[in-house]
Amino acid sequence: MQLKNSTAIITGGASGLGEAAARLFIANGARVAILDLNEAAGQALESEFPNQLKFIKTDVTSEGEVQNALEVALQTFGSIQVVVNCAGIAPASKIVGKVDGIYGPHSFELFEKTIRINLIGTFNVMRLAAFAMEKNEPNAEGERGVIINTASVAAYDGQMGQVAYAASKGGIVSMTLPVARDLAKSGIRVMAIAPGLFETPLLMGLPEEARISLGQQIPFPSRLGKPSEYALLAKSIVENPMLNGEVIRLDGAIRMAPR
Ligand SMILES: NC(=O)c1ccc[n+]([C@@H]2O[C@H](COP(=O)([O-])OP(=O)(O)OC[C@H]3O[C@@H](n4cnc5c(N)ncnc54)[C@H](O)[C@@H]3O)[C@@H](O)[C@H]2O)c1
Repeated sequence: MQLKNSTAIITGGASGLGEAAARLFIANGARVAILDLNEAAGQALESEFPNQLKFIKTDVTSEGEVQNALEVALQTFGSIQVVVNCAGIAPASKIVGKVDGIYGPHSFELFEKTIRINLIGTFNVMRLAAFAMEKNEPNAEGERGVIINTASVAAYDGQMGQVAYAASKGGIVSMTLPVARDLAKSGIRVMAIAPGLFETPLLMGLPEEARISLGQQIPFPSRLGKPSEYALLAKSIVENPMLNGEVIRLDGAIRMAPR
């Protein structure tokens, strides 16, 4: 599938990895609808690309808001060929540990919230977008769409304090093959990217020393990944019709240590 003249839905696209994908997709002739909660960043992107990008304030965990956002995207751009799910949160908390100086079990609510945004949000966008994509005319290859979800290396080597995050990302990994199988007859491919450590606002909040130290743990190249490198893989997945039902680690060969 080509990006040129395609429309991509990018959740979490107001920042970090999703924003980089939006920029690269637009540079390659796509139109992009960003579904995110961050209004200021989303509107700034819309002002930068008034003809190619539409920001639609959306909570990915809401059935009604995602349904509405897809309708707005369809009205604005006509059809949807690509979905990139990047909306997510990464809280840290041990199964038993100290929170605000008090020792106790992991918060039930924090676990539930992480699963709800990262896993159920991804599922919610997939199910509604796939239903819309099934109405597309197939291209010469028989393709009607491509869905790219964002897992994490934490799905495989979750660190201490990552029980909720790792569980949510493990769920994203596990959805890849069954959803690819479900959508095969419709010509919709489903892939996931499992990033290692990337330079996004999340990590840029750390002191420079800590970022350099994290980068040095990566075998090669020994630095944090650039969001543009995530975008490059997303573009490649869109363009390569044989990529389907698989999770690709994008991590410079890092395997995370326990802490
Ligand atoms: N940066 C990394 O090193 C890294 C590594 C592995 C995986 N990831 C994953 O990549 C994805 C993007 O991460 P990032 O580093 O670009 O983070 P980021 O914080 O820069 O971007 C995440 C975006 O998601 C949005 N968001 C959060 N909750 C939402 C909701 N309920 N509905 C809609 N939007 C919501 C935020 O507003 C934000 O704009 C996440 O799923 C993250 O877990 C990142």
